[in-house]
Amino acid sequence: QQTALTEYLEFAIALAQDAGVIIKRALDARMKGGQANILLKYDNPSDLVTETDQAVEQFIKDKLFATYPTHRFIGEETMAAGTATEFTSEPTWIVDPIDGTTNFVHGYPFVAVSIGLTIDKTPVLGVVYNPLLNELYSAAQGLGSYLNRTTALPLFQPPLPLTSLSQCLVATEAGSDRSSGVLDKKVDAIHTLLRRIGHNNGVEAHSIRTTGSAALNMCLVAKGCLDVYWEVGCWEWDVTAAMVILQEAGGIVVSGHNQYDEAPANIFGRKYLAIRATSGEEARQSQLNIARQMWDILP
Ligand code: IPD
Repeated sequence: QQTALTEYLEFAIALAQDAGVIIKRALDARMKGGQANILLKYDNPSDLVTETDQAVEQFIKDKLFATYPTHRFIGEETMAAGTATEFTSEPTWIVDPIDGTTNFVHGYPFVAVSIGLTIDKTPVLGVVYNPLLNELYSAAQGLGSYLNRTTALPLFQPPLPLTSLSQCLVATEAGSDRSSGVLDKKVDAIHTLLRRIGHNNGVEAHSIRTTGSAALNMCLVAKGCLDVYWEVGCWEWDVTAAMVILQEAGGIVVSGHNQYDEAPANIFGRKYLAIRATSGEEARQSQLNIARQMWDILP
């Protein structure tokens, strides 16, 4: 399987780079006065899609089926158009053509194409490419995780021992579900994370960040410049590729809507908590400590 994985990885990297050219070209055209051509998805004004999302997904899908006709495909825009693919043990490519569509619309430079692969229902490969910042994250099971192909991740060690959330830089997102019930819970969780409640007396994270791309948040955790990323409401195409990149970099992902569960993360969980790698003997334990603390705060 290792030889096949290496071949798939090379293929996915080239595919992401080609898709990145289309995304970059569309943004360059915007800078010269072109339109973003926003389309509405599910009548939700917070869940944008553009003609470029659709064009990039079609491009990726065509290339995938031309090369691997027996493989399966789950893509954000294909799903939005009403075509659901049954999830099986067959090799399945899980693709978000533009993760960070709102950023793409505004020209905010956290935009990425995300290409993941599952085999036997397990995520085994991930490529996330931001063509605006020229950052290519890639990983395959057992082969490590890299930035721009040669720089092994994580790149940054924790500035402090990772024993408590109070030492963490935490990412989250507004997400596309803005119903007041969901939003109130998210704001409460952010409040719990940030409020000052006395020296060493509870959580006071270093700060929070939001990039506007679930995949890039997770890759930044893999890189080591974010400690934690959590989100409720994103989808398998947002996270599958980045989960492999994070896990190969020594990080962990906890997912699932129900109880806290340290089992291998479920890509369909819709609630994801990513924790960066730590070093030293207690590494796994300190990751799990942070995961449990964070899980208690999560909506
Ligand atoms: C979205 C982004 C965003 C996250 C949403 C995702 P899209 O993906 O990753 O950061 O908050 O949950 O759906 O729509 O830009 O592909």
